[in-house]
Amino acid sequence: MVAELDALLSRSERRDNVYYLSDPAPYEEKEDRYFRVRARESRLYPDEVVRLLPEINSRHVLAREWAARADSLNRLLNYVARLQRGLDLLDLGCGNGWMTRHLAALPNVRAYGLDLNRRELAQAARVFLGQPRLKFIYADVFTAPLPPRSFHLIVLASVIQYFPDLPALIRRLQSLCAPDGEIHVLDSPLYAPGEVAAARRRTRDYYAKLRLEAMADDYHHHTIQTLTPFQPDVLYDPRAPLNRLAHWWQALMIPERPRSPFPWLRIAAAISH
Ligand SMILES: C[S@@+](CC[C@H](N)C(=O)[O-])C[C@H]1O[C@@H](n2cnc3c(N)ncnc32)[C@H](O)[C@@H]1O
Repeated sequence: MVAELDALLSRSERRDNVYYLSDPAPYEEKEDRYFRVRARESRLYPDEVVRLLPEINSRHVLAREWAARADSLNRLLNYVARLQRGLDLLDLGCGNGWMTRHLAALPNVRAYGLDLNRRELAQAARVFLGQPRLKFIYADVFTAPLPPRSFHLIVLASVIQYFPDLPALIRRLQSLCAPDGEIHVLDSPLYAPGEVAAARRRTRDYYAKLRLEAMADDYHHHTIQTLTPFQPDVLYDPRAPLNRLAHWWQALMIPERPRSPFPWLRIAAAISH
């Protein structure tokens, strides 16, 4: 499925072992803002830490968050492994590639990590490129000339909040999916309509505290209702009664291994609009 994409990549510019399909100039300011947030949130890691993620020193300030991410990663890996067929996979907004490389390590998966974040992409390529069936691409998913129907699976892990128009993103991704393709949304909050205003206020306060007020305009709060036209399957719902119970039990018994607080949704490529 990705033959056309591979041909395109082989003709494109390569820097730091990352393929460039977009010109960075229009994105530089936003990228710089994002980089400063990542630094202030302790989300920039040395190579030797990225190599092991989601495992991280239990004393790291984000250790519990990474444990929750390990929980959702394991669910996704089990799901993909059970599909038992050759899969071309796009990890959109792959950042430093920590998740892309776990997906690429599954037999029969060919993974492409795509982002607009040059520093983290360069790090991903540096740390993981010894691994086969794994490529990193600098591109804006909306405007880059990505060939249609390229991917069987598109993963959006902690990414949707950076896109203002979620339905537009999903429609674009559906066009990049093979006819039987799937889009998976995980590790992001999805709000009930009544929760959005308060969440927006919290976000503004949070970035104001970091003295990066402009970042609040890059962060978007989506409701699950926004996705209703795409008829998503909810593969994990942390608000379901049994999961709430399991969450509570785990927090009590093994607090260092929290379950993911975020839903996991699957959206099919082949719904026409
Ligand atoms: C919070 S990070 C998530 C990183 C990674 N998926 C993870 O799970 O840790 C969100 C990423 O989305 C990327 N992003 C935002 N808009 C994008 C666009 N239009 N095209 C490609 N990537 C984009 C950002 O650069 C950022 O690296």
